[in-house]
Amino acid sequence: MTASVVAARFTGTGVVVAGGASGIGARIAERFAAEGARVVVLDRAAPRCDDHLAGVIAADLVDESSVTAGFAAAVEELGQVPVVVNSAGIHLLAPLLETSLADWQRIQDVNARGTFLLTRVAAAHMVDAGLPGRIVNIASMAAKQGGAREIAYAASKAAVVAISRVAALELGCHGITVNAICPGYVPTDMGAETRSEDDVRRWCSMSPLGRLGTPDDVAGLTLFLASPEGSYMTGQALNVTGGMAMH
Ligand SMILES: NC(=O)c1ccc[n+]([C@@H]2O[C@H](COP(=O)([O-])OP(=O)(O)OC[C@H]3O[C@@H](n4cnc5c(N)ncnc54)[C@H](O)[C@@H]3O)[C@@H](O)[C@H]2O)c1
Repeated sequence: MTASVVAARFTGTGVVVAGGASGIGARIAERFAAEGARVVVLDRAAPRCDDHLAGVIAADLVDESSVTAGFAAAVEELGQVPVVVNSAGIHLLAPLLETSLADWQRIQDVNARGTFLLTRVAAAHMVDAGLPGRIVNIASMAAKQGGAREIAYAASKAAVVAISRVAALELGCHGITVNAICPGYVPTDMGAETRSEDDVRRWCSMSPLGRLGTPDDVAGLTLFLASPEGSYMTGQALNVTGGMAMH
């Protein structure tokens, strides 16, 4: 089913997608816009296409003042922001014995600290505005089962799941849901420089469905969680892995 034949669920809704300049986040932004949302992307990079966006705001998720100012600019553009998605992230493929402290910190800074900063500023806005908000953080299958040569990345994504669970516990009384999505392998710019055809064949064989994920697979669940149908789900870490992970 394509986005064009799905009934619009988000007409006029303000949505912020951090990391929406590329890959999974870019598709999430497109799918929300296709269903009538007004979407602002926060990213340190510029999107390849922004015709469907209400705004693009340059922000570095590692920098507290940049996140605060970027989110405030998004609120100014959109009025209210009941839906916030964090798809920003970076990856590192390096064995434990070759991962420096600087490598470790760089990955935690974007993936864990960035998720904390964005979740906090989004929650403050939703509570202040009395919005029954939806926060969706993109974690990874690595959060649950690790991954060889992903020591820093897997730890950072486990933090994303933990942040989402704690935020869900604390924000439920305000009617705000917070969930994490754990994708498996989705061929995007991320990891493209190290991804071989052999890797792709091997990863496909790990899924009962025999294929890798697509940005649309992740976007579909994101929109579900932000829609009325997702209103009784919170604190979850949901796999979109083609069955590679089942817990
Ligand atoms: N592609 C996969 O196989 C896969 C699998 C599991 C989880 N994920 C997660 O999904 C999310 C999206 O990944 P993707 O595959 O679309 O990658 P991508 O590289 O295409 O997109 C990541 C986006 O995050 C932005 N970003 C990175 N650091 C930032 C910062 N400090 N401040 C602001 N923006 C920043 C980038 O500019 C980019 O637009 C990431 O969190 C990633 O860890 C991806």
